[in-house]
Amino acid sequence: NQKAFIFDLDGVIVDTAKYHYLAWQKIANRLGIDFTHEHNELLKGVSRIRSLDIILGLGHVQASDEDKNAWLTEKNEDYLSFIANMQADEILVGVIEVLDWLKKKDQLIALGSASKNARPILEKVGILDYFDAIVDGNDVTNAKPDPEVFLMAAQLVGKPAKGSIVFEDSVAGLQAANVAGMISIGIGDKTTLHEAQYNFNDFTEIDTEFLETLVNK
Ligand code: G6P
Ligand code: MG
Repeated sequence: NQKAFIFDLDGVIVDTAKYHYLAWQKIANRLGIDFTHEHNELLKGVSRIRSLDIILGLGHVQASDEDKNAWLTEKNEDYLSFIANMQADEILVGVIEVLDWLKKKDQLIALGSASKNARPILEKVGILDYFDAIVDGNDVTNAKPDPEVFLMAAQLVGKPAKGSIVFEDSVAGLQAANVAGMISIGIGDKTTLHEAQYNFNDFTEIDTEFLETLVNK
């Protein structure tokens, strides 16, 4: 048996969610918009441009396209400076063990991320070679919760949606996996991620017995 195991990037493989949050917070603060951790949950898995619209909406701020483009550029520049020196130690706990097990069992590994910065991050932390396919924000037209990113990832590794597995830390991403008819696994707070079929706080809670059942489903 061989299945497609599709990983989200930010907040699943690496702890970059904190950097996205910091970069957005700078812009929100300057505009006088109260932007909390709870608000930030709404932005996880959501495209860069949609994230800005959500933040502006929180503060009922109207802005020209010109301003918006300038803020999007600024946010990404700040974000790039935060991730510039990322290394393997920023890979989240238990991830490598799961990737190694999947490789050993000849399973297919794919990335399904909304980020346009996905490839350089995988390179920096040294795990690009694990991936049989990478689908990121540069490849899709419809952002999560649209299932396009995951459907494309399964297709690239030659597997049907049914039986494919998605690891996600975002509500939008879990919705996308569910709409795609895939097995959705929430990584993070169970209450926030209640739409997942299975929940774990992190990858150390995922044992090989469970992975085995996914392979044989
Ligand atoms: C991920 C993150 C989002 C981010 C999006 C786009 O889904 O969870 O917070 O907005 O990617 O990332 P990018 O690196 O292209 O700005
Ligand atoms: Mg994520």
